[in-house]
Amino acid sequence: MNATHKDLKKVIKTMEQLDEPRVKKDKWRLGFHLMPPVGWLNDPNGLCYFKGKYHVFFQYSPFDPRGGIKVWGHYTSPNLVDWTYEGTPLLADQAEDCHGVYSGSTFIEDDKAYIYYTGNVKRLGDFDYDYVGREANTMLVETQDMKYFGPKQCIMTNKDYTEKMSCHVRDPKVWKEGGIYYMVQGARTKEDRGQVLVFESKDKKKWKLINEITSEERFGYMWECPDLFKVDGITILSISPQGVERQGFEFWNVYQSGYYVIDGDFRSTYSLNNFCELDRGFDFYASQTFQDEKGRRILIGWMGLPDCEPEYHNPTVEKGWQHCLTIPRELHFKEGKLYQNPVKEIESLRKQCIINNIKGEETLPAYSLSEVIVTDINSEGGLSLIINEDVSLTFDTADETFTLEFLNATGAGRTKRIVRLKELRSLRVFCDYSALEIFINDGQEVFATRYYPEQRKNSIKVICCKATVAVWELGEMKYDEA
Ligand code: FRU
Repeated sequence: MNATHKDLKKVIKTMEQLDEPRVKKDKWRLGFHLMPPVGWLNDPNGLCYFKGKYHVFFQYSPFDPRGGIKVWGHYTSPNLVDWTYEGTPLLADQAEDCHGVYSGSTFIEDDKAYIYYTGNVKRLGDFDYDYVGREANTMLVETQDMKYFGPKQCIMTNKDYTEKMSCHVRDPKVWKEGGIYYMVQGARTKEDRGQVLVFESKDKKKWKLINEITSEERFGYMWECPDLFKVDGITILSISPQGVERQGFEFWNVYQSGYYVIDGDFRSTYSLNNFCELDRGFDFYASQTFQDEKGRRILIGWMGLPDCEPEYHNPTVEKGWQHCLTIPRELHFKEGKLYQNPVKEIESLRKQCIINNIKGEETLPAYSLSEVIVTDINSEGGLSLIINEDVSLTFDTADETFTLEFLNATGAGRTKRIVRLKELRSLRVFCDYSALEIFINDGQEVFATRYYPEQRKNSIKVICCKATVAVWELGEMKYDEA
């Protein structure tokens, strides 16, 4: 540990102690979504299950809720529901990462965790920082206990990414397959095309570029946070592209987050199938997956986006914090697409439930923290669910669309998002103090959005021919500090 690290850690602790009381008092703090102790949070990083615990690291700017220098914050959990904040193990304290410990992943082997991330460096001078002036160092840190983190090793620099790349190469994700280690990194070429670089290694330290994956037609100028993994035997490449134009109901957010199915071999000849958005809401980006000890493929996304202002914003900034992560979602591949559902453990938050059989229109009482499950739906003539008089969820049978719409200012600028949907079989809505996650047809489509009610009306209005609606009261997840 160098001297800068020690003192930075102290400064962060002081900042957290100063701002935490204000953040904890905020009515919009979250009950069961991971949020930063203070300040700003973005991407989930280094997700893994290691020696009996889940580890969720995150991009963290403790000094400013509007963002700033990035370090890694660290949460652990035995069960994905009770969380402990472990502090900030990786700080911007070296020449190779002095402008930010950017995103990355954890790879586990032989009782050891290997943490890969991007060390961001902006050279002093008159640079554009896209094509000149920025360094993207691939860094490695080893740990046996996730408490003591070994020295930072710089294992690749921009010259290892070829002449064709701009300065933007980052977010290493590492895995092992057939005795070989692989790494993907997100990239922007000098011609402003998004793509993924694929590396291989025999020892986890020396890496060789073996392939460049991109779409046949240009799809945005930069692909961030790539993840390549298998679900139910299908190879998925998930990316967060920037610079994609709106088309029909697709790509309405400033940046996207979604996946391709890869046919062929990611190491050599491949083809990418249609890009599909992972989430249809206002607040989703930079997701990452990992496989846990039960063999589940679990995804966590950043429930936020960079650069969405002035269209919409998060008023928690005035309370000293901004952004959160999604609930962990278990992935499956069926009927040609990824399905996402909250991990089963979330059900342990359930306290009491009222089941209602609805015919026509009815307003049900809800709770500040609720899970609403709609099943046995007869949606002839459509279905609407109106949450606290603020947000409507509407299935239009004739148009075959499902719409999330804010009915007033509680969206802080958020308006409407739509997805094509042929039929509505089930709906599951998680309402947190300032976040909603909506799962349609057992995870066929998902919407994540932030939501800022001044006062909670705690009601659910349902309009449809017939449906069964269960309203669960949820408890808060446990949250401690190490
Ligand atoms: C995505 C991202 C990553 C980068 C990190 C920096 O949100 O831009 O590409 O590593 O955030 O915080």
